[in-house]
Amino acid sequence: MKTSGRDWYRTAVFYQIWIRSFADGNHDGIGDLYGVYDKLEYIRSLGVTAIWFNPLYPSPNADFGYDISDYCNIHPDYGDLDQFKKVLDKAHDLGMKVIMDLVINHTSDEHRWFQESRKGKDNPYSDYYIWRDKPNNWDSILEGSAWEYDKMRGQYYLHLFAKKQPDLNMDNPKVREEVKNILRFWLDMGVDGFREDVINFISKREGLPNGIGFLPIIGSMMHYKDGPHIHEYMKEFREVCDEYGALQIGEGPMTSVGNALKYLSGETKSLDMMFSFDHMTADCLFTEYIHRPFKLIRLKKALSKWQYKLAGRAWNTLYLENHDHPRIISRYGSEKFHVKSGTALAFSYLFLKGTPFIYQGQEIGMTNIRLSSIDKYIDVSSINNYFKYHVKDDPKERLHRIHVSSRDSSRTPMQWNDGKYAGFSDVKPWFYLNPNFKRINVKAEEKDKNSILNFYRKCIEIRKKSMVLTYGSYKEYEKSHPYVYMYERRFEDKAYVVICSFAEERIPFVLPQEFRGHMGTLALTNYPEKDIPGSPVIFPTDFMMLEPYEAMLIKVRYNA
Ligand code: GLC
Ligand code: CA
Repeated sequence: MKTSGRDWYRTAVFYQIWIRSFADGNHDGIGDLYGVYDKLEYIRSLGVTAIWFNPLYPSPNADFGYDISDYCNIHPDYGDLDQFKKVLDKAHDLGMKVIMDLVINHTSDEHRWFQESRKGKDNPYSDYYIWRDKPNNWDSILEGSAWEYDKMRGQYYLHLFAKKQPDLNMDNPKVREEVKNILRFWLDMGVDGFREDVINFISKREGLPNGIGFLPIIGSMMHYKDGPHIHEYMKEFREVCDEYGALQIGEGPMTSVGNALKYLSGETKSLDMMFSFDHMTADCLFTEYIHRPFKLIRLKKALSKWQYKLAGRAWNTLYLENHDHPRIISRYGSEKFHVKSGTALAFSYLFLKGTPFIYQGQEIGMTNIRLSSIDKYIDVSSINNYFKYHVKDDPKERLHRIHVSSRDSSRTPMQWNDGKYAGFSDVKPWFYLNPNFKRINVKAEEKDKNSILNFYRKCIEIRKKSMVLTYGSYKEYEKSHPYVYMYERRFEDKAYVVICSFAEERIPFVLPQEFRGHMGTLALTNYPEKDIPGSPVIFPTDFMMLEPYEAMLIKVRYNA
């Protein structure tokens, strides 16, 4: 089935589903496609127009779905191909597109290709993976050295991620043909595109030279990030997607704007959007595990950089959460000011230029889980970090590092109501529920018109109706202000101004000169008790007082 072009993505709002923790429909404590089927109306009710599924394929779950053992099937925990088709058709009927996760940097070591490849150098799958007699000094991103010895083959294989995720040899044309077959399989079924996992890592430098030894992990990245043949390979995949008008979004860890633009524009254009990571490090260095206090200035700088540099050339993705990061209120907001900071965070990104993504549970303000011992954590990277770094530190401190960084925080079961098991399942869920589900859950927030949930709905509604917020230009004001994020979206003589405080106290905010004394209309505020949307706003000539995490969207008109 051919879709009618891919231009829909600029006006789309995505919802991301990490299925294992979304909704259990067949009473075994594990989220599945039966549960998703029943929740599609809910997703649609947010104003969402597209869904991204994290991997649904058979997987031994060493990295929860990112270690795939069969690309053209559904994990039995989640249903089967028929059930997937039902979900797909229903999503389409409700007016939502569906994109799949494409993980082709590596497979599972339990994939048939790897099982064959291990058998020896004369096997037809021998060159599907990257085998060497001697490892180089690269680190993997998830689990120690990037090389693992395989007894059967008598050689080492490369794995940039976990040991059970051997890297495919993309230089082998047969492997690229396999990728194209996978694309066709899902596109023929009717999916609308792909989110392409660590896609900027698939081409490795010839000879696999050593990296800078003393820099853990990142010391070898220059040898596989945006590698030598990346754009040739991407072009081949693009051609298949072009046949179907399918959307392609790349995940680009550590990528710079300059490199991203090569995928997103010009002759080497092969992707429609890219997930960048710069704005994910406002409270850490490279990774959440190397924590530092949140600084709004870092967040603003990263967001503005991508807004300005992509303007007129490419299209941004907008996100604050996904399955790889702890919950945003616990990071950039405040659990104490749960609703106010959750809504201020929504303001700070939902009105930027680009396509918004909402990760399951973000719309109700789910927060980090703090498990009492490392034994309770299941994410391979958390476990690796815990046992590899800072091992001599106080155990409390070590656990704290996990609390602020673990990917498990975004993978706790979705909180649907305050009943037993939070309405996620009627039997004991596969993973720990965040105990705050009694308070933070969909059912309670549905009833409260000022909840985070209903706030997301309002933001999305306003955004969707507005040319200014969809296509208007972006401009940041007061960029050195440590507590306030102020930006404007403008289209011809119409504009919206966003003012968001990230302070926990009431603070005075001195307006930029050009706004002083001007008039506008309040479009939305997270202090509805203070002001009513639709009412006129007069920008003060000196300063305005902002309540803790106060955020507002103001419509203004310029004289033509
Ligand atoms: C991506 C995924 C992440 C996974 C990694 C390896 O970053 O989002 O969850 O661990 O790739 O596939
Ligand atoms: Ca289930």
